[in-house]
Amino acid sequence: MKSEALSKYEVFEPVDLKDRTWPDAVISGAPIWCSVDLRDGNQALPIPMSVEEKLEMFDLLVGVGFKEIEIGFPSASETEFEFMRRLIEENRIPEDVTVQVLVQTRRHLIERTFESIQGAKRVILHIYNSTSTLQRRVTFGDASREEIREIAVEGAKVVKELVPTVPETEIVLQYSPESFSDTELDFALECCEAVMEVWEPSVERKMILNLPATVEWTTPNVHADQIEWMCRNLSCRECVVVSLHTHNDRGTGVAATELGLMAGADRVEGTLFGNGERTGNLDIVTVALNMNSHGIETGLDFSDLMRLREVYERTTRMVVPERQPYAGELVFTAFSGSHQDAIKKGLDRRKKESGKRWGVPYLTIDPLDIGRSYEAIVRINSQSGKGGVAYLLDSEHGFDLPKTMHPQVGKRIYDLADERGRELSAVEVGEVFREEFVNVGEVLDLLEYELDHSRGGRGEVACEALVRLEGEERKIDGLGNGPINAFVSALDGAGVKDFVLTDYRSHALKGETGSGSTAAAYVQLQNHEGVSLWGVGVDSSIEMAGVKAVVSAWNLLR
Ligand code: KIV
Ligand code: ZN
Repeated sequence: MKSEALSKYEVFEPVDLKDRTWPDAVISGAPIWCSVDLRDGNQALPIPMSVEEKLEMFDLLVGVGFKEIEIGFPSASETEFEFMRRLIEENRIPEDVTVQVLVQTRRHLIERTFESIQGAKRVILHIYNSTSTLQRRVTFGDASREEIREIAVEGAKVVKELVPTVPETEIVLQYSPESFSDTELDFALECCEAVMEVWEPSVERKMILNLPATVEWTTPNVHADQIEWMCRNLSCRECVVVSLHTHNDRGTGVAATELGLMAGADRVEGTLFGNGERTGNLDIVTVALNMNSHGIETGLDFSDLMRLREVYERTTRMVVPERQPYAGELVFTAFSGSHQDAIKKGLDRRKKESGKRWGVPYLTIDPLDIGRSYEAIVRINSQSGKGGVAYLLDSEHGFDLPKTMHPQVGKRIYDLADERGRELSAVEVGEVFREEFVNVGEVLDLLEYELDHSRGGRGEVACEALVRLEGEERKIDGLGNGPINAFVSALDGAGVKDFVLTDYRSHALKGETGSGSTAAAYVQLQNHEGVSLWGVGVDSSIEMAGVKAVVSAWNLLR
């Protein structure tokens, strides 16, 4: 921002609460969760959900485990009214789920809302009015505190009057001083107390006081101070459920909610993936999974997060960004080499130490716990290192490369990613590896190979091979203490050898066990200049895999 522009803005007044206790609190249990996807979320959509889409979303929220769901503004539109009626008449609300309806503090709207809930078992009836200085001044034309408080009181009285019109429905009352976050605290308290005086909540019959950060104006610590101040100053704290409702204007809705819980709140309103007005409501998925990552049970089940994301994206026509905590496409993916190395080590260690506490560098939770796989964890671009390539070849293609081969293969793969200027998929990495490192026979090619156990002394075998060298076929033979050494000596005899064999290893290709399984062998050769390179052989016989690996390494070293 240009400095001239800055003069328009002023510092947000902190709360004078010197003996605040929330900084020492630790979140150790889950709050009551209330989804406002179908109301705050829906009203922020360019194309609001249809009744059918709302029904699908409602079922999804029930499946996740929400016990309180704000279903809309039934007095605001026919769609909302019809939606409420269908939930009730089609018996779609489970016994243990309470639906919540929002309404402004206006008599005819409250009456229409009561009509919409006829026949429901239990409903949270939620009224709100705006209380902040800014709203009083700008929206309500310099309305006085008294006038604003009276709006709340009048609404509360109408609600109280109408409760007996739905005798078969248990009504839980909720009041929100909307724009609480920029309301003077003493005035927010005055409005809440005035409503409480009308509704007369008790320890047995609590009401909900929802304290919205309708707009997030400042840092989350101030929100926590505001919540702690309210909790301390309410005349009957035990008679109310203190509820948080944060928005994300400064990008700290999650932090504000977490600190608000530390400050004593009991309940949290929010949406899946933070859908909502402007920069969104609180993302409940993140707060709940943050709790899970500290071992806290939340009552919400996000173990199939990808299905949730799919239904959410389809019904809301919103897109979950790739970096969205937990749910984003890329959040469990490491491109950087050092991260890939560390993750591979962490995962390998877990295989050996199953049952131990989670401890994989760079991953706060196990992706499997929310229905994601390890497949996407390591992806290859030009920033990637050798460890990531080795991890992919192992986990996706069954090749367990010797450690000293990682740099050779890693360099080739990320040079290629650099050349192509893009990420290489796991399939592409496998293809390049097989093309360029496995059974390479460009200059020297093995056409036939036979062992002759009748020749040779004790512990030795003889081999006869037909090779093609620079286009010319040649028969060669040699003796050695095994098939590979016999072949090396055959190459020597034919004057082809300008190397020493410095390392060798082999294994059955993973995922291909049993008879006829495929073996992979790795041979490292060093030339007279001291250059060492690995080549790979794959064959159904482990011995032939080794011989082919010699040929591959020879071609690569040439
Ligand atoms: O953000 C807000 O203040 C609201 C209220 C209606 C609770 O959505
Ligand atoms: Zn809101």
